[in-house]
Amino acid sequence: MVEVVSISMSNEIAVVTIDNPPVNAMAQDVRAGLKRAFVELRTRNDIKAIVIGGKGRTFVAGADIKEFDSGIAPPGYHEVLGLIEDSACPVVAAVHGTALGGGMEIALASHYRVAHEAARFGLPELTLGIIPGAGGTQRLPRLIPLEAAVELMLSSKPMPAAKARELGLVDAMVTGDIIEGGIAFARELVARGAGPRRTRDLAVRGAENAAVLLAAKRVQVAKTMRNRQSPLGLLDALQAAVTLPFAQGLKAESAISEKLVPATEARALRHLFFAEREVRKIPGLSADVKPRPVTRVGIIGAGTMGGGISMCYANAGVPVTIVDATQAALDRGMATIRKNYERSVARGSLKQEQLEHRMQLVTPTLDYAALGNADLVIEAVFENMALKKDIFAKLDAVLRKGAVIGTNTSTLDIDEIAAVTTRPEDVVGLHFFSPANVMQLLEIVQAKRTAPDVLVTALETAKQIKKIGVVAKVCYGFIGNRMMDPYAREAEHCLLEGATPEQVDGALERFGMAMGILAVFDLAGVDIGYLTRLERKHLLPDDPTFYRPDTMLNERGWLGQKTGRGFYRYDSARKRIPDPEVVEMLWKEGKRLGVERRQPGEKEIQERCLYAMINEGARLLDEGIALRASDIDVVYTSGYGFPRYRGGPMFYADTVGLKTICERILEFRRTLDARYWEPAPLLEKLALAGSSFAAWSAGRGD
Ligand SMILES: NC(=O)c1ccc[n+]([C@@H]2O[C@H](COP(=O)([O-])OP(=O)(O)OC[C@H]3O[C@@H](n4cnc5c(N)ncnc54)[C@H](O)[C@@H]3O)[C@@H](O)[C@H]2O)c1
Repeated sequence: MVEVVSISMSNEIAVVTIDNPPVNAMAQDVRAGLKRAFVELRTRNDIKAIVIGGKGRTFVAGADIKEFDSGIAPPGYHEVLGLIEDSACPVVAAVHGTALGGGMEIALASHYRVAHEAARFGLPELTLGIIPGAGGTQRLPRLIPLEAAVELMLSSKPMPAAKARELGLVDAMVTGDIIEGGIAFARELVARGAGPRRTRDLAVRGAENAAVLLAAKRVQVAKTMRNRQSPLGLLDALQAAVTLPFAQGLKAESAISEKLVPATEARALRHLFFAEREVRKIPGLSADVKPRPVTRVGIIGAGTMGGGISMCYANAGVPVTIVDATQAALDRGMATIRKNYERSVARGSLKQEQLEHRMQLVTPTLDYAALGNADLVIEAVFENMALKKDIFAKLDAVLRKGAVIGTNTSTLDIDEIAAVTTRPEDVVGLHFFSPANVMQLLEIVQAKRTAPDVLVTALETAKQIKKIGVVAKVCYGFIGNRMMDPYAREAEHCLLEGATPEQVDGALERFGMAMGILAVFDLAGVDIGYLTRLERKHLLPDDPTFYRPDTMLNERGWLGQKTGRGFYRYDSARKRIPDPEVVEMLWKEGKRLGVERRQPGEKEIQERCLYAMINEGARLLDEGIALRASDIDVVYTSGYGFPRYRGGPMFYADTVGLKTICERILEFRRTLDARYWEPAPLLEKLALAGSSFAAWSAGRGD
């Protein structure tokens, strides 16, 4: 067995090195290795100081997340960190890369800390619905002021070494080799005769203002981290740090942590952690299938999406050629890209030289021949089949053999588009979300003839531009928009029944959606959905109430924020304001259409919208449009503002219980419009069997 923790000597300084690639996660074998090392070092009297460091690109960047479900195998974190803190000779943590979670807790339990200039320190446990459980909440506020400690943990954002130095967490900065730097610092300690400086013996910094600070944070968290338990648990643990002696504080932290780890919030967030890695595994695809390299990209259309997608590649350092039909469109597109970058420069998140460099990577042209050497071309012109076909025929004529051709269509049949080329196997759907340079999600649509290596290329290019690529098959709306359709249908129907837009959006937002769907429509433009529904009229149900509110707003030109009113009115700061005229217009229309005035309550609104969405998700699974339930969860949490702490719609369904959901759908079939409330066969089957989407996905072995 390879030793993941080793001891080497530099004269009288012992160096304990953790070597557990890729990020030196503090798995069981690392804990066991650290225990062995510190037990051994305790017995040696030839040692004056100890340096702990990580091999490779980082210090210890977190825990082994699998252990939260399987249970922590001994030795536990406290035992190991206790041994480090107890050491009779001084212990120096030498941090490069990142010290995160359990790794940060090693640094906190060490007596001194030195950091490479580029190192970062963080306790991002809340992103997993838990709190630092190995003393982090008790030790950090003894090293940096309580307020900064609360901020670091609540934000989950790692802080740069310079800031850590300023706050007192870091004792010295290192420019060159981190271990050498650690040894040099340890030598100085020895020369000075400095002994251990145990964090647990220090007083909490800023304890005198703790009551006011923690009370204010509680109020803040209730607003900004709604429905979540772990931030409150964190504040309780910090309260314990302030009020209890260290040993009792540690016990309080453990008790809080033990409650949070198995709770739904943490299970949901762990589920997503693994789901976001699972999306890249495509059943039946051999590991031998390699992606085609993407080093030069072409984009067709310099509009909203084309511009955003170009930025994604320029940000990744990939040269982009944008083709549009007119010079004016190109000029407009380039100006928008520059403006977006300038905004980042103004915010301080981008340097002026980076802006110039990225702009240089983007070449506008009217000439398709300029795409001759592109590895990947993404079409993002108007949503029009004839136009897209025309463009694909042009691309077929100019692209080199083996170039991948993507389309950003939201609604059109990709098989039909691919069929106009002589190389349908090179065509794939690449469905970006707006704003494309910001949104994390990329739906990758595998058409009937998409070649396996083209699919792998799509997954790889998603990673290249730091997006999460989720594979779907061809159908109207793919995964995301298809499930959005029944969700929004119910939201709109509630308006005809007498609910107000604030009640509907409020119910969805209090559930945890980033934004209620009516406000989303106002933001995106109420005409977007309306126009696609017009095109698909022949396929839609013969129901005068179907999306009727949306139609009425369109008829009046109330298209949302861009026209100053839609489901709401908007002031000059784009703040939404209730509009009694719309409310009355809609419920009167409901009355005219014979809709029962039932004024659905909060719970009913939530159940109708979400269960309609989940039911559609079950159909997508049955039809093989989505590969697994967890892929749907990734689509919804990364692209549609579904609350991560609920794990995504399908995970959420499992936590409610499929039987409960199915029964409620059957009840809606009796009390609402029956044609919309047919339980999906898969949902019904799993509900009857007392099973879950997770079990079903796992049982298929992929
Ligand atoms: N806007 C969104 O939120 C969104 C989200 C996902 C997908 N999409 C899809 O992305 C595509 C583009 O949408 P958009 O919102 O960027 O549209 P847009 O109107 O902002 O941009 C379309 C661009 O295509 C150009 N164009 C038109 N004909 C052309 C031709 N023959 N050759 C080259 N360029 C041509 C236009 O000049 C324009 O610059 C559509 O298929 C749309 O369905 C849009």
